[in-house]
Amino acid sequence: MTLSSIEVNGLKQAPAVEGVLPVVLHRWSPRSFDGRDVNPADLRKVFEAARWAPSSYNEQPWRFIVGLRNSDTYNKIASTLVAFNKAWATKAPVLILGVAKTKFSHNGAPNHYALYDLGAAASVLVLQAATLGLAAHQMGGFDQEAARKVLGIPGDYAIGSVTALGYQGEPAALADEHLIANETAPRTRKPLNEIVMAAWGESAELA
Ligand SMILES: Cc1cc2nc3c(=O)[nH]c(=O)nc-3n(C[C@H](O)[C@H](O)[C@H](O)COP(=O)(O)O)c2cc1C
Repeated sequence: MTLSSIEVNGLKQAPAVEGVLPVVLHRWSPRSFDGRDVNPADLRKVFEAARWAPSSYNEQPWRFIVGLRNSDTYNKIASTLVAFNKAWATKAPVLILGVAKTKFSHNGAPNHYALYDLGAAASVLVLQAATLGLAAHQMGGFDQEAARKVLGIPGDYAIGSVTALGYQGEPAALADEHLIANETAPRTRKPLNEIVMAAWGESAELA
């Protein structure tokens, strides 16, 4: 007997830390999606939130190609996924490809922060999705050059990630035991003393 989606959400929840945004603690990346379509108003909200992410020079280099199930764009994005991702992500009703403009609009100089800024927008997007009760799962496992080709992405845009968006499904609906085991395992993170330093190699003393 595997865990239900409700039980899994309890297990994926990060330990409560007072003052940390609740959505940061409960957001996670499911691979099981149920059949429901995303309400168009909610879909708009996830992009509305992403739009307000910070970016270098306020360039807002992010662009999102959004494909709804059964559309040409959806099928094109799906066609670029590696087999492992295709197996579960194509149950999601929405696939989004994020790309970033690599030159600044004001002077044409290279924007070395383009992908960094796209990542910031993607982070806001997935947090907004979780706030709306949606499941979002980002993927790097796809053929970037195939995506550029089938979607006609110009050469001065860097390819970021694909995000599957929809409603969380039951873990038991996943295709195999390996996926179910991942779906029902607790989330893990490095401890703060490994990632925050007062000087290189020296953990910062935090309260
Ligand atoms: C840029 C990026 C690429 C990722 N690529 C994949 C992927 O190809 N396939 C996959 O199943 N998960 C992928 N993930 C999801 C991560 O594995 C997941 O976010 C991580 O294990 C932390 O789990 P959580 O999001 O549930 O907290 C990716 C996440 C990011 C941000």
